[in-house]
Amino acid sequence: MSSDAELVLKGALLPDGRVADISIAGGKIIHVGAARRADQTIDCTGQLCLPGAVDMHVHMRGGATQGYKEDWVSGSQSALAGGVTAVVDQPNTIPPLTGTDAFGARVAEATRDAYCRFGINGYVSGESDITGLWEAGALAFGETFAAASSYGGAVSPKELAQVFPVIADLGALVTLHCEDVLPGDDTSLAAHAALRPEEGETTCMEMVAAQFPPGLSAHFCHLSSPLSAAAAMTALPASFEVMPHHLFLSIEEHGTVPEGCCKVNPPVRYEKTRKALWEMWDAIPVIASDHAPHTAEEKSQPFSAAPSGIPGVETLVPLLLAQVYRGRIALSSLLEKVVYTPAHLLGIPVSTLLPGAPADLALYPRQKTETITADLLHSRAGWTPYEGMQGVFPGITCVGGHLSYRRNEFSRRDDLWLPGRGYKCTQAE
Ligand code: DOR
Repeated sequence: MSSDAELVLKGALLPDGRVADISIAGGKIIHVGAARRADQTIDCTGQLCLPGAVDMHVHMRGGATQGYKEDWVSGSQSALAGGVTAVVDQPNTIPPLTGTDAFGARVAEATRDAYCRFGINGYVSGESDITGLWEAGALAFGETFAAASSYGGAVSPKELAQVFPVIADLGALVTLHCEDVLPGDDTSLAAHAALRPEEGETTCMEMVAAQFPPGLSAHFCHLSSPLSAAAAMTALPASFEVMPHHLFLSIEEHGTVPEGCCKVNPPVRYEKTRKALWEMWDAIPVIASDHAPHTAEEKSQPFSAAPSGIPGVETLVPLLLAQVYRGRIALSSLLEKVVYTPAHLLGIPVSTLLPGAPADLALYPRQKTETITADLLHSRAGWTPYEGMQGVFPGITCVGGHLSYRRNEFSRRDDLWLPGRGYKCTQAE
């Protein structure tokens, strides 16, 4: 007799407090309640089932020259081991994704190697083929470097004024990296923060917003302070994201790693600002990681030579879920910020844990946190600034009903690309 479901996750705790059996077939959840007859049943007693997270800001590296930092295999495995089932790769690759050839090569690389779902954004500059990238499947545009950062040169206001109307006409989302970079010696976390000040983030956001044509969907990346978050919410209505490193690290408290490891753009701020950012938790629409892996060797150079960026796709949900278990934040607020709002902004299918939704989910131990160490993690970067902090890591992560991560082993499935709404397939089906 044939079975109704391919997989049943039995006795899992759901975010709404119910304990249920989740039946899965054809990549989707088909029933939540009493188990359907199934090919495979996994006992999930004592496990909390959450929808797979969408990390809308990662740098997966790879390509011809950056695989020593990370590639799609290690980066996407790191995502799965942190309960992230979809990532959005930023286009400041080498070469940057300004045209359809580079974009197509990036999609091919990720299609070959990725273990989790992925979207790929188009690069924004005066030279970019915006319409071509959109039709090639760009999920969104950006991060747009309104200030220079690792592997991204600053785009001028003139260029922004040229490309924004094209993006607005396409109905695409543009994401923006806003900072004001002052001249000076970059010798410590404090100096780095002074050269890329909080006020400069806001001034740059205002300058960029002055170029917005009507109807542009804009999203500000990695806001590091309540000042810029408040600006995004009031003066410049746009969505925005905040990163775990701005919530968990500061100039005074940067863990056991060398200072250069916590060098990132925008910079980590003082404790006072970090704490004030937590006060705004409920108003933050999206939390993403800005996973930007560099090796321990690169990050241990003298501060001014260390590249900016922190790996974080695997610790994004675990760090925050530990805060839920501590009673500091509500589980529903976490899911809004790492699942529902990013999926909605990007226009990708949402994993709701309801019948008909994609079976993208992760199972976490209930009320049990563990101490984060670099050895636990899967990024090729091989280090973490969150060493010694508490996290809650999933034991199982499913992508489209496939057991992509279980017992510390990974299994790949096909069909993981999330093209944008403008995608025009040019190959014969
Ligand atoms: O610190 C950063 N590193 N900020 C960015 O915007 C880019 C990133 C990278 O790609 O390394």
